Amino acid sequence: MWFNRSYFRQRQVPGPRRFKLLGHLLAGRRDLLTTLQQCQRDYGDLLRFSLGPKTVYVACHPDMAEQILIRDLETFGSLSQQAKPVGLALILGNGLLQSYGEDWKRQRQMLQPLFHKRPVERMAIHMTTAGEQLLQRWHSTYSPGEVINVLEEMVKVTLDIICRTLFSVDVITPLDTLQTVLPILIEHAATSLKNPLLPPLNWPTPRNRRFKQALQTLDDIIYRLIQQRQMSGEQNDDLLELLLQTRDEISGETMNRQQVRDQVATLLGVGHETTAAAMTWLWYALDQHPLVLQRVQDELATVLAERLPTLEDLPQLTYTRQVVDEVLRHYTPAPLVARLVLRDTEINGYPLPAGSTVFVSLYNIHHHPDFWINPEQFWPERFATREESVKHRYAYLPFGVGPRFCLGNHFALLEMSLLLAQIAQRYTLKLVPNYLIERDVTMTMKPRHGLLMRLYPR
Ligand code: HEM
Repeated sequence: MWFNRSYFRQRQVPGPRRFKLLGHLLAGRRDLLTTLQQCQRDYGDLLRFSLGPKTVYVACHPDMAEQILIRDLETFGSLSQQAKPVGLALILGNGLLQSYGEDWKRQRQMLQPLFHKRPVERMAIHMTTAGEQLLQRWHSTYSPGEVINVLEEMVKVTLDIICRTLFSVDVITPLDTLQTVLPILIEHAATSLKNPLLPPLNWPTPRNRRFKQALQTLDDIIYRLIQQRQMSGEQNDDLLELLLQTRDEISGETMNRQQVRDQVATLLGVGHETTAAAMTWLWYALDQHPLVLQRVQDELATVLAERLPTLEDLPQLTYTRQVVDEVLRHYTPAPLVARLVLRDTEINGYPLPAGSTVFVSLYNIHHHPDFWINPEQFWPERFATREESVKHRYAYLPFGVGPRFCLGNHFALLEMSLLLAQIAQRYTLKLVPNYLIERDVTMTMKPRHGLLMRLYPR
């Protein structure tokens, strides 16, 4: 499809003018998601925004998600198909998340078997072990009523789970270091997406220096992990083993150090960041909805009677699972999925030029009034009968949809259900009064100032 300039001008996608957008952002306390919802109400389900010299589009309807993420893959490609690496490509190199075309297909086929339901279920035991470590640390460190930063704690436990399950490392000495460097890297990657005027990485600005130092530290940790495994001669049934043993079908060669590093960095990053954000919102939601918390704790008492939860318990923990599903809808921890428009095209009769970026807003779709009853209300019971509650096949997409659907969805659902069951059995978390909650969207959606809560043992 090819359109001339005047066609684009005549049929421009609706959206706020530049100064109005600024007003929206200020009014929404710099909250991007509130702004997007306001704009959807004002202009419809397809939006256009001018950000500096760049125009981006935001699609807020399940039919558009279907077109962009499933049906028209020839037109909507990966952002890494742009010439200059930005966003996560700066950290993750050419791992699964950043690759595209045949290369992506090969990588996905290689990793997929490890993330099927059965192999993931075998990881449950490592997840509860990490949960127990967290609870023991809380027990020995904090007195009743003491304040913790829930976001930091959730990052720690989800990182621990990734290291145990995918790399079979149980004494995680670099955990604190990882916890320091990963936010620096992720913040820089997100800023590089939002701000096209950022100085090139080879300029010695303080921001660039900090980023490069953090990247070097991450690389050191990963290369040490690889070296330790190679020297130990151990054979583990884990991701690291798979990466070190897999041979290219054509050349017969194993992956080189850089390729292994890129996959490890990818899974370390995406494998904890989104789940940590989701778990953080979960504790916030339970504080705001005491009746929901009560129902979860009652269910846990009936089903587990103070035992450690196991994989076999999960089918009985039906309300616990509804809470997880509703957290993923209401908060949508990965709220925006980006694609590059590879050739001139149309959405809903509006033209989109090749080279532009389009975001599918999973958040707006999860709050679309045509598809959800009381979408702004946190109400886990809506998932009691899923078929009736979700009115459109693509109205509930916390893990995306289509060929690039989240590789770790079984992993994340299992991890969240087990952690919720384990922690809520032993503790009630209460928000520090008047604590300021602002939503921050980088790669994921998190509370901008962390989440301070008081810990009360039960
Ligand atoms: C609540 C937790 C999680 C949420 C909400 C989430 C969400 C998503 C979404 C929306 C995508 C699609 C991106 C796109 O279409 O461009 C995605 C991709 C991905 N996720 Fe997750 N994710 C979560 C946890 C995990 C975990 C635990 C892992 C790994 C252990 C993981 C690994 C991946 C990978 C590797 C991709 C890229 C897949 C590809 O490009 O082929 N995710 N995730």
